[in-house]
Amino acid sequence: MALLLGLVLLMLFRWLNHYVRQLSRQTAQESGRLAKYLIQTLHAFKYLRATGQIPKLKHGITASISRLTGYEMRRGIADAFTRAISEPIAVVFIMLIVMAQLLYFEQPLVPILVSIVLFYRAINSILGIQHSWQSTLDHIGSLELLHTEFTQLKQHQEADGGHQLGPFSQAIRLQNLHFGYSPELGPVLKDISLDIPAQSSIALVGESGAGKSTLVDLLSLTLQPSSGELLIDGVNAAQLNRTSWRQQIGYVSQETVVFDDSIANNICLWQGDPQQDPQLMAQIEQAARQAHIAHFIQTLPEGYHSLVGDRGLRLSGGQRQRLFIARELFRQPRLLILDEATSALDSESEQAIQQSIDALKGKTTLVIIAHRLSTIRDVDRVYVFDQGRLVEQGGYAELCARPNSRFAKLVALQKL
Ligand SMILES: Nc1ncnc2c1ncn2[C@@H]1O[C@H](COP(=O)(O)OP(=O)(O)O)[C@@H](O)[C@H]1O
Ligand SMILES: [Mg+2]
Repeated sequence: MALLLGLVLLMLFRWLNHYVRQLSRQTAQESGRLAKYLIQTLHAFKYLRATGQIPKLKHGITASISRLTGYEMRRGIADAFTRAISEPIAVVFIMLIVMAQLLYFEQPLVPILVSIVLFYRAINSILGIQHSWQSTLDHIGSLELLHTEFTQLKQHQEADGGHQLGPFSQAIRLQNLHFGYSPELGPVLKDISLDIPAQSSIALVGESGAGKSTLVDLLSLTLQPSSGELLIDGVNAAQLNRTSWRQQIGYVSQETVVFDDSIANNICLWQGDPQQDPQLMAQIEQAARQAHIAHFIQTLPEGYHSLVGDRGLRLSGGQRQRLFIARELFRQPRLLILDEATSALDSESEQAIQQSIDALKGKTTLVIIAHRLSTIRDVDRVYVFDQGRLVEQGGYAELCARPNSRFAKLVALQKL
């Protein structure tokens, strides 16, 4: 009886389960939204405060919190409802059984008292299933989100080719390479063929959005070509052990990367203990000099052991950039990629860093993306991109002298 009745009751609880499941999904989504709001507000706090725009975000955050509170409250009510309802249900049915026994069957009550106790326990246990299931459903929204994340992670996991690349010594070769971020967005790089011999220096030039940074991401194997080939020292990129290649790359990206730690650790990236190891310290100082930041570091009370704050908050934009460059120079990479690395710097620092980079010519392979074309005058080869196509290539002087050259036009524009 208890089993049959319990099953019927569980069926009746289905609408509640549906409701709880919905609530759980909404809660998980809303928590994600709230976290996104908060993280973005914290990241942009200085800007938002300086421009008095915090109230705009505050509105969104408050609304999100009140929605979240609403969901939590309804979940609590649903939970309390299930807890509260099971006891009365059991009691009602026991009374029905007692009434049936006394009035309908006209039997004494005593012989069935034990079965009533058993019935009571059984029905409570069965309703306990509902309670446990409801607690599970309470978390189903978060679980579903997590499951989706894991599925996507698996889908996009990098297949590693396993070929250990020795020190880069011949060339990077791109053959009829096409790339698009997704089919809907269309191609970003179209039919690119070019060579980057080891120890040479090349510059990528073009308007913003032309695909230069995308090309760099392909070189570091962060992105995979849609079609065409990328060969490194004659090995197809798909067959490479990615780490063995990436460890040879130094990359100063458009967004500065600074860690909340000391300057020394920011340069050596916790490779050892700079305070204990004089040799490591000497290397760090050397890199700092090359990046034209040593002088500034010496003016700090704690020198190389000064802390830079969250995302380098205690440094100026230019200092942050130079610290970033110092880290990449410290690594002594075989391929150094500079994606508008010096754009944010004053002319003096830019020139000094330029000299350090010039000193690397012939020792390291250099891929330079620069808006200020004066900084790439001495590279071996210039590649000009336009809307994802490689439209011109040649030496700086050669391209300048070429009639109707797009590059010459760009140079002329910057001289104005
Ligand atoms: N992660 C991304 N997802 C989708 N599209 C992107 C992404 N990154 C860049 N793009 C698009 O690809 C094009 C080339 O961008 P990018 O390589 O950054 O240009 P550049 O560095 O030459 O200024 C742009 O149109 C940009 O909108
Ligand atoms: Mg870019």
